[in-house]
Amino acid sequence: MRSLSSLSRRPSPMLLLLLSPWSVWAQLSAAAASSGTPGTPDCPEACACAPGGQANCSRRALPAVPAGLSRRVRALLLDHNRVRALPPGAFVGADTLLRLDLRENGLRWVHARAFWSLGALQQLDLSANQLEALAPGTFSPLRALRSLSLAGNRLARLEPAALGALPLLYALSLQDNELPALAPGLLAGLPALRALRLRGNPWVCGCALRPLCSWLRRHPRPAPEAETLLCVLPGRLTLRPLTALTDAAFSHCAQRLAPRDLAVVYALGPVSFLASLAACLALGSVLTACRTRRWRATALGPLRRALDPGPGSPAAAAQD
Ligand SMILES: *[C@@H]1O[C@H](CO)[C@@H](O)[C@H](O)[C@H]1NC(C)=O
Repeated sequence: MRSLSSLSRRPSPMLLLLLSPWSVWAQLSAAAASSGTPGTPDCPEACACAPGGQANCSRRALPAVPAGLSRRVRALLLDHNRVRALPPGAFVGADTLLRLDLRENGLRWVHARAFWSLGALQQLDLSANQLEALAPGTFSPLRALRSLSLAGNRLARLEPAALGALPLLYALSLQDNELPALAPGLLAGLPALRALRLRGNPWVCGCALRPLCSWLRRHPRPAPEAETLLCVLPGRLTLRPLTALTDAAFSHCAQRLAPRDLAVVYALGPVSFLASLAACLALGSVLTACRTRRWRATALGPLRRALDPGPGSPAAAAQD
């Protein structure tokens, strides 16, 4: 009991290790913003703030998110800067931020906890950057997000876990990336999605594209946009619009197993292994028992008779 309470009072070395990059990054971003003339208390020093809560930090060659973000900032314009990485808690203090513009920063890396504290954010623009991948959970704190642009990056895959469940997301732009398909679970977590921009990706119209094609049929879009969504591969479907692919085009694809069937398949393996193991053990012990019995009968029989002589035996006669 005593050791338990002392454990809970002292922070574990593991926790300290996990938190340390945070403080290092916070210092880095503060240092980056400390140049420039002192601003008003509610405005980051490097930026120009308007009465409505808009902090205009665009085109200022900033290498990091400016420090001094306050609850008064409602829109943060950070476009056309040099923010290459977003560290954990990059926007701490701006928990009432509604709009964040990070276009054209050469952004390559976003920490999975970069957007923590942005629970009120409604609009996030990360377009025209160099993002190749996004860590699981990156956008999941953004429960109020309505519009997200990842257009013009280098994304070759987008895991459903990166977006998580965004209940209010209405507009998502993934255009001009390197996506060959969308993971099946991705659209399932976005119940409010209506505007999905997809053109400029090398769509491979195989079985993996089936969920996307059925989503597109359920959400018809204006003809000009629909016609620009074209298959690149396989050869027989090249330049076919995604919207023209009906269920018949996927008839050769195996149906995905329902979770219950999958559970049966996964349970059957170990169960049959254990059953055969038990059968072998049972059979083995029966055989051993039979053999022991027979051995006792053949080998021990004469010996026992010799040790325990009956009345008419030669040994009994010798004793008389
Ligand atoms: C932000 O400031 C830049 C100049 O630094 C200016 O060109 C731009 O129009 C401003 N943006 C807004 C929305 O006020």
